[in-house]
Amino acid sequence: MTAQKNVGSLLKQHGVSRRDLLKWCLATATTLALPISAGRAMAKSLEKATRPSVIWLSFQECTGCTESLTRAHAPTLEHLILEAISLDYHHTLQAASGEAAEKAREEAMQKGGYLLVVDGAIPMGNAGYSTIAGMSNHAMLMAAANQAAAVVAVGTCAAFGGLPMADPNPTGAVAIGTLIHEKPLVNIPGCPPMPQAIVGVVAHFLAFGKLPQLDHLHRPKAYYGETIHDRCYRRPFYDKGLFAETFDDEGARKGWCLFKLGCKGPTTYNACATLKWNGGVSFPIQSGHGCLGCSEPRFWDAGGFYHPLSAPIQPLGKVVPIAVATGAAVGTATALLNRHRYQQVVERYPTITPKDLEKSP
Ligand code: SF4
Ligand code: F3S
Repeated sequence: MTAQKNVGSLLKQHGVSRRDLLKWCLATATTLALPISAGRAMAKSLEKATRPSVIWLSFQECTGCTESLTRAHAPTLEHLILEAISLDYHHTLQAASGEAAEKAREEAMQKGGYLLVVDGAIPMGNAGYSTIAGMSNHAMLMAAANQAAAVVAVGTCAAFGGLPMADPNPTGAVAIGTLIHEKPLVNIPGCPPMPQAIVGVVAHFLAFGKLPQLDHLHRPKAYYGETIHDRCYRRPFYDKGLFAETFDDEGARKGWCLFKLGCKGPTTYNACATLKWNGGVSFPIQSGHGCLGCSEPRFWDAGGFYHPLSAPIQPLGKVVPIAVATGAAVGTATALLNRHRYQQVVERYPTITPKDLEKSP
């Protein structure tokens, strides 16, 4: 990586104008539920920001998270990520290898105050299951976390254990949050996670020196505050009880709801239905396949991809009249709806405690 003074000069060097940066910051601030003024402040801070050091470690994973990141789009976000921030060490993307790569990691660690991005779970069954430069994944994680300003667990494997932790979990894999308790931690789950969420969190940290608002599972609320179902364009069919029964019946051709084909949208918190993938082109449900719940705890074991959730969640449109008829307020009706939804979440994800649910949005 070449040494540069600040993010603004690097972006300019790569043809990203101040206007492009402002546009991107305004869009990101809107997604982060920040006011327009914060978008402007973000652009100003980003432009002047000195490049922070970022160390990206990959453990038990499939490289899909890095693939997701390099598919990030405007404004030439590969530049934003790979050049504008100082990616001192990235197992997959760095040109260096062997001793030169490890030297870069050690030098970055000496500086301290860096953002530690981790993808993949940690195998705790045996230190020898996965090693890098002779170090176990666990030892490398703890050493790198020691001087980090914050830790970002990217992808469901890092955030919740994901596929490596799936039954029978032969390597004793655990999530990053199981091991890191002393540092600010943000989880960006998804298999893979949305690039906008990764870049949005990094940009927020870069611009404001802190992580965005997180929920009870350490996820940025801006990207994980609503379920796929809350924002799904097939929702009107769900509310009318119009469901595709097979992948090629008339209902499927008419774009009806995929709930009966196993869609986990009602219990999955992610922004796919609004931000979409591949530069806003589409997302799984728009392609005709139900949500697999890839960003939730216990993905893959809790998948049952083609088995529907136990029962359709009562549509709000039906709960409200019932509540009104019984003298309850609309707020109570919403609470009823949420309780019903959370019951389903508990059923799917028994590791979530009632306390977690109380704090749920
Ligand atoms: Fe969309 Fe799935 Fe909800 Fe149906 S169940 S409205 S397809 S998220
Ligand atoms: Fe994953 Fe569901 Fe989005 S499967 S990619 S959270 S629509």
